[in-house]
Amino acid sequence: MGKHDWREPPKKWNFRTRAAHVGYDPFLSMGAARPPIFSCSTFIAENAEKLENMFRRSAGLDKVLAPDDEWPIYTRISNPNFIMLCDRLQCLEQGADNSRAVYFPSGLSAIFTTVLALCNPGDTLIFGIPIYGGTDHQFRHLMPEKLGLNVVPVDVSDPNKMEEAIKKYANTLKLVFIETPANPSLTMVDIQAVADLTHSLSDGILAVDNTFMSPILQHPFKYGTDIIIYSGTKSIGGHSDLIAGFIVDRDVSRAAKINSTRSTSGPTPSAYDAWLLFRSLDTLEVRVLKSQENTKKVAKFLLDHPKVDRVIYPDFYDKNSANWEIYQKQCEGPGSMITFDPAGGKEESYTILNNLEIFGLAVSLGGVESLAENPWFHTHLDVPDEDKLNSNFKPQTVRLAVGLEDPDDLCGDLEQALARI
Ligand SMILES: Cc1ncc(COP(=O)(O)O)c(C=O)c1O
Repeated sequence: MGKHDWREPPKKWNFRTRAAHVGYDPFLSMGAARPPIFSCSTFIAENAEKLENMFRRSAGLDKVLAPDDEWPIYTRISNPNFIMLCDRLQCLEQGADNSRAVYFPSGLSAIFTTVLALCNPGDTLIFGIPIYGGTDHQFRHLMPEKLGLNVVPVDVSDPNKMEEAIKKYANTLKLVFIETPANPSLTMVDIQAVADLTHSLSDGILAVDNTFMSPILQHPFKYGTDIIIYSGTKSIGGHSDLIAGFIVDRDVSRAAKINSTRSTSGPTPSAYDAWLLFRSLDTLEVRVLKSQENTKKVAKFLLDHPKVDRVIYPDFYDKNSANWEIYQKQCEGPGSMITFDPAGGKEESYTILNNLEIFGLAVSLGGVESLAENPWFHTHLDVPDEDKLNSNFKPQTVRLAVGLEDPDDLCGDLEQALARI
């Protein structure tokens, strides 16, 4: 055992120190400075009694929290690399005393499994629009058609609509799900206001997709969120080389229920990906802050460009708007996503996308390389046109995810592509 408890970091440790040390005890692996990859399906127990205890704990029958509470039985249930990763991720969240992370093979799997664990047929799920297109599809199609849920989309740009929906469905409300900033309009949703409404008017819980801001730039537990959701594919993974998802729950027993729903319904992430993600957490803050610095320069370049009609970036919100007020209250930076409208329509947007040389024409975000796409016709193709228009994006809108290249080169790339329209 090392000099400190590797699962419970000293309270005085700051973020960077926790991100670099929590979760791994070298003395459990012959002093190896970095963790090994536990590439195995099953784990040997010392004796039959211990194996029974492990099953009891895994099934939630034995609630005693022992240090080896999550001692792995079988990798579909848990694995040392998953435990290290979750210990490290959960200690980076602020605003909840005792939260617990659960690791999934994708962000969408994290969302689906959370709904499966918490909702029953006939329950109501309210979700804010706009939201990531894949989540939108799950909520509008899979959940009502396959799980029998009453799913209610609510425009997040109008807080009154959220209040009306929560009041209307209070009796059956199980889950309110929001994404903030919303994808791709970057609309800010007031987490505290939605948490207060959810908790005061119903027995429902609030889940917030914090993928865009990451644990560096927004701390939803501080504002009353019950569950934080991440696509780990994005800045947490950070290198566009894996797909992953997480939930972090302020309630440990609810997290155990969600993990048990994951393992019994089958989706299992890989130990190798968990090992990569653990390594990526070491550099999360450095990467997020550097790409944000780049993004500020790119956003300013677009704002000043004569062929750009509109740039949506949190730093440019009207100082009298609700977006600005919420941004100031709950975000610690503007992040690395920009949404802009070039002059013209779909054709001009496609001309830009087809001529970019450094920005990859691809969906996703949070990697080393910068990416560009057209949300109307790509990520959000499936969303009804009316909802897209109400959600403040248009057929010509371009979404940029800025990475870690030289920002002058990124501006030069946009300059030459904009010159084609
Ligand atoms: C905000 C947000 N949430 C969730 C997801 C889904 O994550 P995954 O692709 O890891 O399943 C995405 C994917 O782009 C996303 O952008």
